[in-house]
Amino acid sequence: MPNSNAPSATEKKDNAMPPMNGKSTLSITDNRTGKSFEIPIENDTIRAVDLRQIKVKDDDFGLMTYDPAFMNTAACKSNITYIDGDKGILRYRGYPIEQLAEKSNFLETAYLLIYGELPNKSQNEEWMNNIMMHTLIHENVKKFVDGFHYDAHPMGMLISSVAALSTFYTDAKDIADMNGRKLQIYRLVGKMPTLAAFAFRHSVGRQYVYPDNELSYAGNFLSMLFKMTELRYRINPVLEHALDVLFILHADHEQNCSTSAMRNVGSSQVDPFSATAAAAAALYGPLHGGANEAVLVMLDEIGSKNNVPAFIKNVKDGRGRLMGFGHRVYKNYDPRAKVIKKLADEVFEVTGRNPKLDIALELERIALEDDYFVKRKLYPNVDFYSGLIYQAMGFPVEMFPVLFAIGRTPGWAAQWEEMLLDPEQKIARPRQVYLGHGLREYIMMGKRSEN
Ligand code: CMC
Repeated sequence: MPNSNAPSATEKKDNAMPPMNGKSTLSITDNRTGKSFEIPIENDTIRAVDLRQIKVKDDDFGLMTYDPAFMNTAACKSNITYIDGDKGILRYRGYPIEQLAEKSNFLETAYLLIYGELPNKSQNEEWMNNIMMHTLIHENVKKFVDGFHYDAHPMGMLISSVAALSTFYTDAKDIADMNGRKLQIYRLVGKMPTLAAFAFRHSVGRQYVYPDNELSYAGNFLSMLFKMTELRYRINPVLEHALDVLFILHADHEQNCSTSAMRNVGSSQVDPFSATAAAAAALYGPLHGGANEAVLVMLDEIGSKNNVPAFIKNVKDGRGRLMGFGHRVYKNYDPRAKVIKKLADEVFEVTGRNPKLDIALELERIALEDDYFVKRKLYPNVDFYSGLIYQAMGFPVEMFPVLFAIGRTPGWAAQWEEMLLDPEQKIARPRQVYLGHGLREYIMMGKRSEN
């Protein structure tokens, strides 16, 4: 892969400490052999392949690390998103999420993620124009959205239809071409809301609404979702702004499950539409982007504030989880959840208060005081309050992960391109610790035991 567009590496981590004795190495003694090794430390990491020299016999494979679920393994170097989970910090390209949510808009933030800098005025205009010029989808896509069952989950429809884009844009296979990649990114960011809106319209049995490119990104999406017979959909600016901010908050989150899927699948050099379908599939799960939907289901099940203590007790006894709480990286209040909580007040002024907010607030109050949650550092995450806003805005719960996917698309695109341009990256291919049978002779059917 050519590397001419690779962003300049800022390898120093915010918390990297200078070595106390001038040595940035790790000394390891293998007690099986008594041999010692000095392994370089760079950016507070050691390279797993450096462990391969540690062997008992010359023909051993060498030492590996075992890290199910990647609890302590960095799979890439990245310049895109910085998270300090203990302090509750999230920054895109160095800019705090709180400032972006307050001052930026989604398309500008998308540009920042993808190109590494905030756009100037003309770059911004060109970028917005390029995205909004790519919102239309091929008429045939409509036909197979039509083919889905009436109660098909919109996330399933989105995953399938974004994968299908690869069959319409066969030039997307040429991932080595920088201009080609740019074009596919315009298409991805531009078309995701259209695919999402068509999935929604299909599930409610309404005719599809074509994009209106004179509207803002969020405004156009609302129009494609909710326009009825009026000539032009009248957008409520508070809801338009809230949706835009929600997209910003979801736009990237470093190496989460779906982004890792995007990078892993993309590392096979497949086209970005197929890789995005894989990322969206990862996002669909209830432990990831499906959690916002699961929160609303949970709030419905709890039913009233009075049932909160009993629900919390069940969770503590191991019967279910408090959805929208906890995070692999944040061991503090998720900064996105803080912004969303404030945003909720603005939205509820327009839509009326979502009655489930009282249950959510009570859950949060009790959980933040309860030893079980305090000890495990479980705080509300981005999904805890976002669903309440989405629901107040008129979205059915099935649409929640779809909204997350639209917001996350620029992040996936930025991470995909960073992976492609990184000369250290190759096809992703983890190792395993094989604990199965040794060599066995095949047994004919008639000789196998029935027990
Ligand atoms: N409710 C109750 N207990 C929990 C929860 C929860 N939501 N989350 C974690 N725990 C407990 C867990 O049982 C474990 O306890 P113990 O040590 O006694 O076994 C401990 O906390 C550590 O949990 P873990 O499962 O090892 O942590 P993880 O880093 O693997 O999981 C998580 C992270 C987000 C999957 C998990 O916290 C969870 O399932 N949360 C609910 C789902 C959710 O809200 N997901 C959205 C994540 S944010 C949006 C996104 O990026 O997708």
